[in-house]
Amino acid sequence: MLFSPQSLGALRLANRVIMAPMTRDRAGLGDMPTDLMVEYYRQRAGAGLIVTEGVQPCPEGKGYWRTPGIHSPGQVEGWRRVAEAVHGAGGLIAMQLMHCGRVVVPANRGFTAEVVAPSAIRCPAQVPGPDGAPADCAEPRALAAEELPAVAEQFAQAARNARAAGIDAVELHCASGYLINQFLNPASNQRTDAYGGSAENRARFPAMVVRALAQAVGADRVGIRISPGNPYNAMDPADPAATFGPFLDALGDLPLAWVHVVDMSLPDLDTLAFVRAHWAGPVIANNMLKADSAEALLQAGRAEAVSFGRAFIANPDLVARMQAGAPLAKPDFSLLYTGEARGYTDYPALDAA
Ligand SMILES: Cc1cc2nc3c(=O)[nH]c(=O)nc-3n(C[C@H](O)[C@H](O)[C@H](O)COP(=O)(O)O)c2cc1C
Repeated sequence: MLFSPQSLGALRLANRVIMAPMTRDRAGLGDMPTDLMVEYYRQRAGAGLIVTEGVQPCPEGKGYWRTPGIHSPGQVEGWRRVAEAVHGAGGLIAMQLMHCGRVVVPANRGFTAEVVAPSAIRCPAQVPGPDGAPADCAEPRALAAEELPAVAEQFAQAARNARAAGIDAVELHCASGYLINQFLNPASNQRTDAYGGSAENRARFPAMVVRALAQAVGADRVGIRISPGNPYNAMDPADPAATFGPFLDALGDLPLAWVHVVDMSLPDLDTLAFVRAHWAGPVIANNMLKADSAEALLQAGRAEAVSFGRAFIANPDLVARMQAGAPLAKPDFSLLYTGEARGYTDYPALDAA
């Protein structure tokens, strides 16, 4: 089934092997996509769908070094070249919208902007600074309830910009301890208003953003990504079902294109079955999959598609390799975030290797 077509919302995928979002720190001046990025994504267009690296919807959303944005005209032009290259090679491309919230090392930005979050609680985790060494995150300002519709509108405008650039869909990053996850999780959301406290309240702003995206570009071009129980960036991993159930329930009436699930193999929760119980639409499964385990998931009806992250780094033609049963090349993880072509666009396809 891996190599059979599948619809996700408005998108008709040629196969079910999706490239998972991966931050690679190769954006250029003004956080604009570069020629190198155009080439990198073009090389990987054999995926049924590419989900881009996390892209900041607004200046406040940037937390890491050299990550691209989708809020300026130059960024839109850069992404247009990426989308054209992927389409020209027969692929589809969705943009992951990633607002870092409190996970911000200000020196990574190259400009001044506020650091905002659900509550004024500094992220205790460190993230790489401009030199790659771990650095402290900034103290965030708690967003006022009255500001939240405007933040949702920043996401909506980013989605319109992505579509204007020719990007096929957007995926809202609701995982890994970034802004949306920060609202969902009690460790980072200690609000006492309608956006904090109960799981239903904590899901209110995330659901507002999803609705704003659906209204902006159509629900059938919007996906979300969740990772229940993932402690990354100081999220409290306790009782993820209690948090993510109400969030998925709040989206039940929206015909979203997909829910992308990073399955943490939790001891107490069958995450894919849990998502199925709360979400009737297409599911993309991710994490630690191989061709055979991915095929088994699809055969068992546990997901409609699967995504691979690390396997796509050194195997631009991953789908062809899997189809041929060919061995996979291993990536050099020391080159993940260098900003260079080396370790990024210089992994050859099998027929060239
Ligand atoms: C270099 C790198 C960067 C990543 N960046 C992102 C990101 O921007 N957004 C996201 O949702 N996940 C990100 N991830 C997680 C991957 O999408 C994926 O969930 C993870 O690699 C597990 O899948 P795999 O076992 O197939 O590699 C990243 C992973 C890697 C290795």
